[in-house]
Amino acid sequence: MRLDGSVVVITGAGNGIGAAMARKFAGAGARLVLGDIDADGVGAVAEEIGGLAVPGDVASESGVAALVDAAMSEHGAVDVYCANAGTTGGTEADEAAWADTWEINVMAHVRAARALLPHWLERGQGHFLATASAAGLLTMLRAAPYSVTKHAAVAHAEWLNITYADKGVTAQALCPQGVRTNMLADTGDTGKALLVPEAITPEQVADLVAEKLGGEEFLILPHPEVGDYYALRAAQPEKWQAGMRKLQRKVE
Ligand SMILES: NC(=O)c1ccc[n+]([C@@H]2O[C@H](COP(=O)([O-])OP(=O)(O)OC[C@H]3O[C@@H](n4cnc5c(N)ncnc54)[C@H](O)[C@@H]3O)[C@@H](O)[C@H]2O)c1
Repeated sequence: MRLDGSVVVITGAGNGIGAAMARKFAGAGARLVLGDIDADGVGAVAEEIGGLAVPGDVASESGVAALVDAAMSEHGAVDVYCANAGTTGGTEADEAAWADTWEINVMAHVRAARALLPHWLERGQGHFLATASAAGLLTMLRAAPYSVTKHAAVAHAEWLNITYADKGVTAQALCPQGVRTNMLADTGDTGKALLVPEAITPEQVADLVAEKLGGEEFLILPHPEVGDYYALRAAQPEKWQAGMRKLQRKVE
């Protein structure tokens, strides 16, 4: 996809993968609108790349609407929306953790798409990038809310693409394994044991996204082996689960 001159909104752009994508896309000539609940972080990234910072919380309908409205007021259009902000949801999986994780990892995507679809369908053009996770195709041990909500984020992006691609509105799902960000540092012993050895940098993820954005592939897989695991899970679910149960015993 040609990024030069395009308007790109990124949530969770104050740190990690979102900040790296903002820098990469700005380098390719895109005009960036950056959202994050971390006002200082997103302000610093926006200042560095000459984008617009819109501090706010994507866990509410009004927070998402404010971000989309700010982009439309500033640039009159949105070409690409990267629903990237996310939360691990912790391992406790109490009511509050499930609710928070659902709002941020899923409903923020649903609400952004709902806000943008009329604009995109009128123009016959628009692209939605969901930062899901390898956990959205496979699972994440000891993290039920994360696994479930990331599956939902992939399902939502898939549904959008199937429903609207013929009308010019497309979607992709970005599904990395470990990426060296604050989130990985916060995943605790399980995340560290499973993800750190193969972890890549946010800049590596951003480089691949810039290459694949708007292309033929629905899944953007910074760790290509995830595609093999996903195929095994579909073809032989019991065999795949046996492997995951072995890993579960190991981390216990
Ligand atoms: N780091 C990994 O190993 C990894 C792997 C797969 C997928 N991901 C996904 O990548 C995305 C980005 O995470 P990251 O690794 O860059 O972590 P990160 O912690 O560096 O960045 C996440 C950003 O999202 C922001 N954010 C969180 N809740 C928000 C909210 N309610 N409203 C607005 N902003 C909010 C945070 O302030 C932060 O700046 C997430 O969706 C995450 O699930 C990360």
